[in-house]
This record gives sequence, structure tokens and C-alpha cells, in this order.
Amino acid sequence: MRKIAFLIALLWVFPAGAVNISDVAVIIEEEEYYPPIFDVYPGLREEVPWIHLGIWPTPLQKLEAYGEAVGLPNLWLKNDGLSSDLYGGNKLRKLEFLLADAKAKGYKTLIASGAVGTNSGLATCIHARRLGIKTILLTSDQPNAQYARDNMLLDLYFGAKMVYAPSDMDIFSQYVQQYITNSLKEPSYLIFMGATCPLSCIGWANAAFELKEQVEEGLMAEPDYIFLALGSMGTAAGLHVGCKLAGLKTEVIPIPITEPSDARLYALLIAATNLYMKMRDPSVPFIGVNPSEITFPKEHIGKEYAMFTPEGCEAVRMMMELEGVHLDGTYTGKAMAGAVDWLKKNHQEDKVSLFINTKNAVDLRYLTQDLDYHDLPRGYWKYFEEPIQQEDQKLEEYLASYLGEPQVDPSVEAHIREMPPISWPEDDVPVYSSAPWIIKGIMDFISTWFALPW
Ligand SMILES: Cc1ncc(COP(=O)(O)O)c(C=O)c1O
Repeated sequence: MRKIAFLIALLWVFPAGAVNISDVAVIIEEEEYYPPIFDVYPGLREEVPWIHLGIWPTPLQKLEAYGEAVGLPNLWLKNDGLSSDLYGGNKLRKLEFLLADAKAKGYKTLIASGAVGTNSGLATCIHARRLGIKTILLTSDQPNAQYARDNMLLDLYFGAKMVYAPSDMDIFSQYVQQYITNSLKEPSYLIFMGATCPLSCIGWANAAFELKEQVEEGLMAEPDYIFLALGSMGTAAGLHVGCKLAGLKTEVIPIPITEPSDARLYALLIAATNLYMKMRDPSVPFIGVNPSEITFPKEHIGKEYAMFTPEGCEAVRMMMELEGVHLDGTYTGKAMAGAVDWLKKNHQEDKVSLFINTKNAVDLRYLTQDLDYHDLPRGYWKYFEEPIQQEDQKLEEYLASYLGEPQVDPSVEAHIREMPPISWPEDDVPVYSSAPWIIKGIMDFISTWFALPW
């Protein structure tokens, strides 16, 4: 089994068609900030596309009040919700690599997917807009929730082309359909669920090097454990690779929030990311990963993806009340409940534990106030006409007094003013003009994801 996994990983990351990163390199030269992983592995800086979109490093804080309330005296938070003053959260570290790749290769449109409330899809369409790249967003059904409504309207606001594809099968067929029809008009770059692939995972490997610098500055002690939500696995897999490469003793414990979640697939993604990096900079060592040694507490998923659990909602309420940090019911609430539960069950209460907040912290609700859901395709209307799930209803009522009325945000406005205009190609664009992009797009997709040798 391990041999087969290794072979697949090898196919995945075999160095592919030369990535032309010269356009991106121009942008990099003007930057004062470089990911610290590039200092340690300069070969990556040469070979891997990257563009500066976020605010780094993200802050650390000790969760004094929450930690005391749940009996964990050494619980810390790294708040990646604050990774941007436009739209933060965990996707930004991935997008700095993926969007740089898409831009360097000349793509005008991305095709991304997720559930209707996808944070990843929203982050993609917002930050791609900053680079003048449009997003086609393929989205499937999920349990109804207020954040899903907000995100759908924000997708609309930031100019995504929304395609309702109820099931996973529909998403797959829409990928094929949208890719072919759109590539006939202009170059289209494929991004799968959660924006996860070996290239984007480097963003989270870098986060471990960032954390190491913060530890060396004395901002916190080296953590024994890091906890975070696990969806498409890229965030945790990248962190795992980064912690090993940075020489941290820290064990990364991902808390799965959806099925199917499998420690073997997670290990494969870790191996693939590691190998992808080594192919681009031979000084990157192999870290080795054994699925049976990975801690993977799966009992916090609840009924299904995005169906809130009472424990997760309690974690959201307590974090808001005691720390003023806004977690969510789909990912971070469940992950925090899982972290507390694991530390207590395993009698590790005194260990230094770090929780990563992966949820965006910028309140964009004010942008959606005048939007009408009828401007979304028909399939989405039911999310605005049917009630949200009960746990979320209660949570929203509780959070309302903390969040207050939506307010205009000057930094968000400044970003929006700077966004280049976008336009979708006319339907009568002559198809033959860009037909070669169909082949190029598929080859680039394979090189970014599976990296076959061309
Ligand atoms: C808020 C939040 N946390 C965690 C995750 C999981 O990250 P990953 O898909 O990299 O496992 C997501 C994914 O969309 C997310 O939106």
C-alpha cells in the first residue's frame, strides 16, 4: 500500500512544464516581505510563483479567559482571520501561490468549486479580482446557514459567475462543461475544492517558519501541539510539512469537519507537498510520514459537513464572549471543541497548545445589504426562502449583540477602489482564436496538481 501511495505521490509532483514565473518575479522584487521559507530554501524562491496578498505575520495571543474557563492554562491562538484587511482566513496563504501561478501563466479566469457557502471560493474570487482575474464558482448543496447566504451574496458582489451544481457529480460535469466552453473564449485555470494542491500547501508550510520566527522572538513558547480544522486537508498538511522542515517539536493535530477524511490521504498530501518542494529545491529534506502515527480525531464532524454541533456552537459563543474572537459553526467551532476535548481526554492540559483561527475576521456584511438574492441563479433562491438550521438560528441571535450593525469598512473600500475592472468575453468571440488554451489549461492543471513530465 505504501509503495503504491509513494508512486502516486511521485506522479503527482514530477517536475512539469517550465513554469514561467518571470511576470510574478517582477512583483516579488518590489516587495519588502518574503515568506521566511524562501530564506531557508532559496531554490523555492527561484522556482515557485508567489505574490504578496496578505498581512504577515499573523498575530499570536494567549487565550487567558477561554483557557481558564475550559481548564487549559497554556492555550494560544494564531489568528489567521486577520491575514488580510479585505478578506482573511486560511485560504490567503494558499492563494498567494496559486494566484501567482495563474497570473504568471496568463490566465484570465479561474474555475473554482465548493459548497454554496464556500469560504474558499469567496476568498478566491475576492483576491483574484485584485489581480484582474475572474472566477467561475461551481457550488453544491449544504445545510442552510446565515454565513452561506452572506457568502453567496458576496460572491455576486465581487463579480463571480455562479453556477449551481447540487451534487458532487454535478460539480464534476460542470467542471468539464464550464472549462470547455470558457476556454474556447479565454484561458481558464482550474482550482479544486479548498484550493488545495501541493503548490498551495507551501503557503502553509511557510506558516510554520513564520511561527518559528515568532517563537524565537519570544512571543510564545514552542508549542507542543497545533490544532486546526481539516476540510480539503491542505492547510494542515502544509503546516505538518512546515513544522518538520522548520525543526519544531510541534505535533499538528487536524480536526476533521467533513467526510470523507482519511489519515492515509492526508499523509499522501503531506508526502506530495514535500516531494513537490524537493523537486524544486533539492536542499529540502524528505520528512517521511507514517499514517498510523498521525493523530486524527474524527468524532467532531457531527451529522454532516456544515451541520452545526452543540459543542461547536458552545465554543463559538465562549470564544466570542471571553476573547472577542469570532469562530464559526462549520469549521473553527468544531475544531476548537475537538481540540479542548482531545487535550483533556489525553491529560495534556498543561501542554503549550496553539489553535489556528482559519476563519476570515473582516466583516463584509455591509456590502450585501442592498443586494437581492433574485440576482443569483434560481437554484440558490431556496437558501434565502427556507429557514437556516436551528443551531445557527440560536447562534446568530447570540452573536448579534457582539457583532452589532454592519458598518462600512474604510480599508475594504480602499481595496475595492483599487480593483481593476473585469469583463466577461462576449458569446460571439471566435472560438478558434483561443482553442489551444484548452490543451494548455489541462497540461497546466496536471502540472500544478499531478505534475506529469511535460
Ligand atoms: C474557515 C475554514 N477553516 C478551515 C478550512 C479547512 O481548510 P482546508 O480545506 O485547507 O483543510 C476551511 C476550508 O474552506 C475554512 O473555510
